[in-house]
Amino acid sequence: MKKIFVTGALGQIGSELIMKMRANYGNDNVIATDIRKPEEHIVVQSGPFEILDVTDAEKMHTLAKKYEADTMIHMAALLSATAEAKPLLAWNLNMGGLVNALEVARALNCQFFTPSSIGAFGPSTPKDHTPQDTIQRPTTMYGVNKVSGELLCDYYFYKFGVDTRGVRFPGLISYTTPPGGGTTDYAVDIYYEALKRRKYTSYIDRGTYMDMMYMPDAINAIIQLMEADPSRLQHRNAFNVTAMSFDPEEIAAEIKKHIKDFKMNYDVDPIRQGIANSWPNSIDPTAAIEEWGFRAEYDLAKMTVDMLEKLKEKGIENL
Ligand code: SER
Repeated sequence: MKKIFVTGALGQIGSELIMKMRANYGNDNVIATDIRKPEEHIVVQSGPFEILDVTDAEKMHTLAKKYEADTMIHMAALLSATAEAKPLLAWNLNMGGLVNALEVARALNCQFFTPSSIGAFGPSTPKDHTPQDTIQRPTTMYGVNKVSGELLCDYYFYKFGVDTRGVRFPGLISYTTPPGGGTTDYAVDIYYEALKRRKYTSYIDRGTYMDMMYMPDAINAIIQLMEADPSRLQHRNAFNVTAMSFDPEEIAAEIKKHIKDFKMNYDVDPIRQGIANSWPNSIDPTAAIEEWGFRAEYDLAKMTVDMLEKLKEKGIENL
């Protein structure tokens, strides 16, 4: 990874990944791209930045060539709830963007990463300790995109020798850039609302368990997988990774340890609840641990302490 080209650089993952990679590999060696360019943004100011719509294959190729990219990190995509509301747009953006990025990687001989998700599983997948290799028949457009993406990335590896690698991320929790249009977003919103209003109304019901991970662990996982010795990789697209699994009551109880008068209410959104119900309760990351040494530092308690502290530092507190 000497010249790293990133799409979706202003998204929830991209914005933190760029800053960590610029610190590790040098500011000028990480080329950030996104569909918009907010001049005051730290990602725009700290190194090369280009406007790129990932459905524009020619521009993606031109830019990657101009910067002599040897690594493509493709992040631009719609999340699950938005994809369910706009399935055709999701197919065109998520799949069109991915195949364009893979083609650039093939043409320029780049190493390649794109995230998959717990959304790549469906109602017929074993729900607890979901194995690395198992049934994947998702019932959401997002899931269809993610499984297709996993297959396409493996195809580019076997057919063209592109060094594609990926992880199935769980819900990602972070304090820098909010996620948008995901099913697991409640687990981010809850921290903001707990600090601002001492209460939160959850659109996900009690007893709904989903895998989650704190952003620093997610960023480390991407870098570690990309740097892993390829001879150790039995799998490629994509590895199960997770740090914790909880339901809304458990995260609320953890927050209550720090904000005593915090109150949780429920107003379940049938669409996002339906998506959550189709996903695993907890996935098994053994393959990632064995093949490239994946390890998560943060559990629910440690993450909650850090989230509340960092959000307070950002001034997210109303009382
Ligand atoms: N966090 C994502 C979503 O909820 C899952 O990959 O859509």
